[in-house]
Amino acid sequence: MRPMPHIVLVGLMGSGKSTIGKKLARRTGWLFSDTDNMVEAYSRRTIADIFATDGEEAFRDLEEEMVTLAMSDEKPGIIATGGGAVLRESNRQLLFGESFSVYLHSSPRGLLNRIRRSTSRPLLKNEDPLGTLHNLLQAREPLYQMAGLHVGVEARPIRQICSDIWSAYCEAFPAARSIPFGRM
Ligand code: S3P
Repeated sequence: MRPMPHIVLVGLMGSGKSTIGKKLARRTGWLFSDTDNMVEAYSRRTIADIFATDGEEAFRDLEEEMVTLAMSDEKPGIIATGGGAVLRESNRQLLFGESFSVYLHSSPRGLLNRIRRSTSRPLLKNEDPLGTLHNLLQAREPLYQMAGLHVGVEARPIRQICSDIWSAYCEAFPAARSIPFGRM
């Protein structure tokens, strides 16, 4: 492991990976990468369109490429992954083996409250998004739990969540203590 590895955020849709990731990036001055955005920029298509036209596996192939690309950056950065990035073994090896990985967890109800108005998530376009989140959580929880740090996000201010993640990172990688952690 490098002296200062990337901080990787994993968890289900609606757990705040992008919001918390952006905030952490602003406060550390590090680069922020979001594998969902990378897939869309690279393919010049929306995730919904890739799912609808080519199917989930085609999306997972692109996602795997983007996970590899984001992880290959020499400088430490903040990486927000798509909720299903942990499904592939090759991604898990990179994300959990070579980074400071953080599982952002919440109840299905808390997740749904945060993404109720979003229309961009094909897996939740059905009559029972709460039940879907419940099932996904049950199936994926053992994978998310492979992350080194677990942080509950429900009813907690984002600023506090970011500070907790950064404190744990500095504890694990003391070289990071010299980095000013801004209040932005
Ligand atoms: C997915 C989560 C989404 C996106 C895609 C599939 C999943 O990302 O990658 O819709 O399988 O859980 P977010 O977790 O950022 O919403």
